[in-house]
Amino acid sequence: MSRLENRGPNSVTDEPLISVEDVKVHFEKERSLFEMFSEPDVVKAVDGVSVDIGENDVLALVGESGCGKTTLGKTIIGLQKPSAGTISYRGRDIWETKAGNTDLSFADIRSSLQIIHQDPGSSLNPNRRIVETLSEPIRLTHPAITAGERRARIHSLLERVGMTPARDFASRYPHQLSGGEKQRVALARALLMNPDVILADEAISALDVSLRVEMMDLMLDLQEEFNTSFVFISHDLSNARYFAEHGDGRVGVMYLGNLVEVGPPEQLITDPQHPYTEVLRWATPNLALDATNASEPPMRKIDIPDPVNPPSGCRFHTRCPKAREACTQLQPELREVSDSHQVACFRSDPDHEYWESSELED
Ligand SMILES: Nc1ncnc2c1ncn2[C@@H]1O[C@H](COP(=O)(O)OP(=O)(O)O)[C@@H](O)[C@H]1O
Ligand code: SF4
Ligand SMILES: [Mg+2]
Repeated sequence: MSRLENRGPNSVTDEPLISVEDVKVHFEKERSLFEMFSEPDVVKAVDGVSVDIGENDVLALVGESGCGKTTLGKTIIGLQKPSAGTISYRGRDIWETKAGNTDLSFADIRSSLQIIHQDPGSSLNPNRRIVETLSEPIRLTHPAITAGERRARIHSLLERVGMTPARDFASRYPHQLSGGEKQRVALARALLMNPDVILADEAISALDVSLRVEMMDLMLDLQEEFNTSFVFISHDLSNARYFAEHGDGRVGVMYLGNLVEVGPPEQLITDPQHPYTEVLRWATPNLALDATNASEPPMRKIDIPDPVNPPSGCRFHTRCPKAREACTQLQPELREVSDSHQVACFRSDPDHEYWESSELED
């Protein structure tokens, strides 16, 4: 897949913070005893994605469950090794760095790239007070800092994420916190490392609807204050839109392991260029758009294809109402349709052979 030059409007330097180039992540499915001697099934979770993340950038990834958002997000922050392609941090290949082949330390990269999970409870030790959980990463990375300084830092961050009085919250155990409070602790823990990028993987999905906007606003305030970039993952287009719009960033739409459309949120939602983005828009009633009133989804079939045997050509052709014969043979690459807006669909190219090709029979 061709390299995606777009870096988002907030990017300030020429070199991207993170550069993902033609990355593939394929997983072998576990085999049962009877299948031991057959070839393993391979899930193509991410299959040829290129994207750059700049400094103080926001990329909101959206797409239906199983399309590869988490796998791509983890690859971006160096938690998942790609099967092919490269992922660089400030120009250095992350996995070459891990092998000791660059001038950076892998530990420094790892602490610069942080994650907040959907379920913060699972990543907080139930037997430890919040102050202990937050002390550990500082102790490991800054052994010279005194206990008093550590506590002051923790209290100030807890206050910053809205947990006041900080002294009271610091002494609690996770079970004494609400879901929203646990998520704030997870955010504080990520920020302790002064990270360059935070991956927020469905970080607001488990919260009460009333708390979601508050949490997104908090993350966006801190993004600016700490000069951090966010990769924000959501299966909900309206949340992705909110986060990207207020963070002056981009929305990236994923389908079966591919990025199929990337663009500024308003443009992508009011004038979607990929037929799958239209489906997401149709499936998201709270976007407050007139165009989403149709009662039927804009699709030929609703079944999601198997990621072990994805459709040939354009992965979306089995469901796309605009698919033609050419779409079953050729795979579209992301191409620029306007400033900061890319789409992987032949219809964006007026000279493509798609236009001469016959329509698909149902
Ligand atoms: N460790 C793994 N081993 C095997 N398959 C996996 C693994 N992680 C994810 N997958 C598969 O990869 C695909 C993409 O998963 P994921 O990245 O979690 O998608 P999303 O976050 O969009 O729901 C799914 O089909 C999922 O079952
Ligand atoms: S390339 Fe063809 S099948 Fe794919 S989204 Fe475009 S029209 Fe639909
Ligand atoms: Mg996921």
